[in-house]
Amino acid sequence: MGASRVREDDESKDDAFPKLFETKKPTKVQLVIRWLFSISVLISICLVWFYRFKYVPTSVAEVDDHKLGTRRWIWIGLFAAEIWFGFYWIVSQPLRLNQVFRHTSRDRLLLTRYEEKLPRVDVFVCTANPMIEPPAMVINTVLSVMAYDYPPEKLSVYLSDDGGSDLTFYAMLEASHFCKYWIPFCKKFEVEPRSPVAYFSSNSKHNSSSFNSEWSAMKILYEKMENRIETATKLGKVPDEMRARHKGFSEWASVSSPRDHQTILQILIDSRTPDVVDMEGSKLPTLVYMAREKRPQHHHNFKAGAMNSLIRVSSKISTGSIILNVDCDMYSNNSVSIRDALCFFMDEAKGHEIAYVQFPQNFDNISKNDLYGGMLRVIAEQDFPGQDGNGGPLYIGSGCFHRRETLLGKENSKVSKTDQWETNDILSKLVLTESIAELEDSVKDLANCIYEENTQWGNEMGLKYGCPVEDVLTGLSIQCRGWKSVYLNPERQGFLGVAPNTLGDTLVQHKRWSEGDFQIFLSKYNPFLYGHKKISLGLQMSYCVYCLWAPNSLPTLYYLVIPPLCLLKGIPLFPKITSPWFLPFAYLIISTYTSSLVEFLLSGGTLQGWWNEQRIWMFKRTTSYLFAIIDSISKLLGLSKSAFVITSKVAEEDVSERYEKEIMEFGTSSPIFTTIIATLALINLFSLVGGLKRVFIDMKLETIEQPLLIQIVQCGFVVLINLPVYQGLFRKDKGRIPPFVSLKSVTLALSICILVSSLY
Ligand SMILES: *[C@@H]1O[C@H](CO)[C@@H](O)[C@H](O)[C@H]1NC(C)=O
Ligand SMILES: *[C@@H]1O[C@H](CO)[C@@H](O)[C@H](O)[C@H]1NC(C)=O
Repeated sequence: MGASRVREDDESKDDAFPKLFETKKPTKVQLVIRWLFSISVLISICLVWFYRFKYVPTSVAEVDDHKLGTRRWIWIGLFAAEIWFGFYWIVSQPLRLNQVFRHTSRDRLLLTRYEEKLPRVDVFVCTANPMIEPPAMVINTVLSVMAYDYPPEKLSVYLSDDGGSDLTFYAMLEASHFCKYWIPFCKKFEVEPRSPVAYFSSNSKHNSSSFNSEWSAMKILYEKMENRIETATKLGKVPDEMRARHKGFSEWASVSSPRDHQTILQILIDSRTPDVVDMEGSKLPTLVYMAREKRPQHHHNFKAGAMNSLIRVSSKISTGSIILNVDCDMYSNNSVSIRDALCFFMDEAKGHEIAYVQFPQNFDNISKNDLYGGMLRVIAEQDFPGQDGNGGPLYIGSGCFHRRETLLGKENSKVSKTDQWETNDILSKLVLTESIAELEDSVKDLANCIYEENTQWGNEMGLKYGCPVEDVLTGLSIQCRGWKSVYLNPERQGFLGVAPNTLGDTLVQHKRWSEGDFQIFLSKYNPFLYGHKKISLGLQMSYCVYCLWAPNSLPTLYYLVIPPLCLLKGIPLFPKITSPWFLPFAYLIISTYTSSLVEFLLSGGTLQGWWNEQRIWMFKRTTSYLFAIIDSISKLLGLSKSAFVITSKVAEEDVSERYEKEIMEFGTSSPIFTTIIATLALINLFSLVGGLKRVFIDMKLETIEQPLLIQIVQCGFVVLINLPVYQGLFRKDKGRIPPFVSLKSVTLALSICILVSSLY
């Protein structure tokens, strides 16, 4: 009797709590292999350290004191670099040893118990500049999220336009009209993806004739709209008849500049108004345009400021309990992503502790072998599952679903597990008493500059201010308040954006990221201090993998300059082949490269793609990270901002042609970046030539013992990886290394090499 009751209870419990998601871990065998590998690498690292420690040059028969001193310092520098690399490798291990992979059971959401309780979802799209982010692209993102497979009365889409541009507003108006055709079309034919431009540029299959005719009609409708928007953007002027038709444009009469204007807030579609329906008579999602107030004397705090305004404004209009944040160039490629994310939030067993669900940032603008490593493939496929296993992924600013209350600073005190979505219904039950205009007027104040004065906004509430990677910092503070986050990387990717397609853009982007992350490390939010006892040590270390990107630059530079120059001089820095100490070095080199290649291939990359990524890895470390560290430190010392200009120039016309052919684009990079890259490449080339001559022609060293072998291999590897740089020096197109940069680099590299060879 007792036993059967228990079983019944169990069953009814199962019924009551059907799991909405599953968490998969690597198998025991995989884990054992991982651990064994890590331990073997760790042992080799310790052996290398021990070798460096034991063999610091003390006395060499034929060299005088002066030379000995120099050699000792070279050795100690190398030791320091190796200590850093080893330490950094240890910090990165939790990402490899503790991965989890999530899968959702979306169909279970269709059970009435969930379907009726689906929460309201507010989608925030942020744009900042109509020149860099064309309005036509922005509304494609907006349309793709409006067409989510979700009850329209529970979905609201907000665009924050920090460019305060009437062109963007105009495009939004067009979109608010076009969506009445587009959304029913998507739902009727289950169209994917739901960004019109992405959909029409992919080869859609034509089966039935009714589909074909609707498809063509829709395509024409879209193209006409796109045409009108692009013409307006090109002319920089909204068509007069459009201006006359919508009163919203009158707001721009008093706008003097994008940096100085009042709040402009327009509810373009209010799903609560009964007569707002699409062509099939179905409800439409709410659509809101907002350009928050900007005044020169008030800091606007970039995207974090825009997001915080949206959080407040939306709290008075739709109050979605879930907030999705996407960048304006990241369209939704999967109409069920909201439902995927809700599988975590609505899970009765675990949902109450989950603050946000982060999707990977994927790109549909990547050349075949990903010349600039823009996919961040290993990060998406290996690092993030590792963060997830340690307590939750970083929040990376786009493709992320948040619980509204966590953004408002709420602690996870494990309150009401049940009925957590109750509040949503209050709003839907409200009778629409205010007119749209009244509502607009009453919420405008929330987006004004002075609203945040003397409040916790930007600090304890909303996204944090004052950091170039405000999203990462915000995610960290949410996790430190006791919340978990999860990473979902579904097969059909949720969001697709545009990756940088020049070397310059890639390097500048990474400079910003690595600088922001390093600033977190230097601030009171240092994951080890701020996260102490709040998040797991593994997660603290996972954060530091990125926070410590920038300092990697110095040891990497040392490694790329000193061993080659020593090769040129014939100074061995590594053990001879015949020495047992050769083994740990060889093992480290072979095993780390093999594992990185295997990881890359397992993440879906190509061999050539891996090779390209090694190159970008080197470039990032020697340029982006270097300037990130210089700028961080000069800020810390209170010096002025970077003395170097490192913005990239506007792209030339034939850039994308070269991008598709995977020819590296140097022309648009910052000259100082290119100079460093080319000089390093040339130093290694000259040293390799000099070193090979010394070994094979002059025979100054015993060839069997070959103490210079590791240096020759390293130098040869660097030269091979830099082949596109040497080509860049001799190419004729506009993307080549500019002649004055080439001249500077050659002179610099030659003088360094000559100086070193003639020294003592
Ligand atoms: C994306 O890449 C394609 C080629 O792959 C190119 O034609 C297009 O201009 C690129 N778009 C952007 C915005 O860079
Ligand atoms: C985006 O969606 C399309 C259409 O559903 C799909 O075929 C494609 O594989 C998706 N792209 C990626 C990168 O997952």
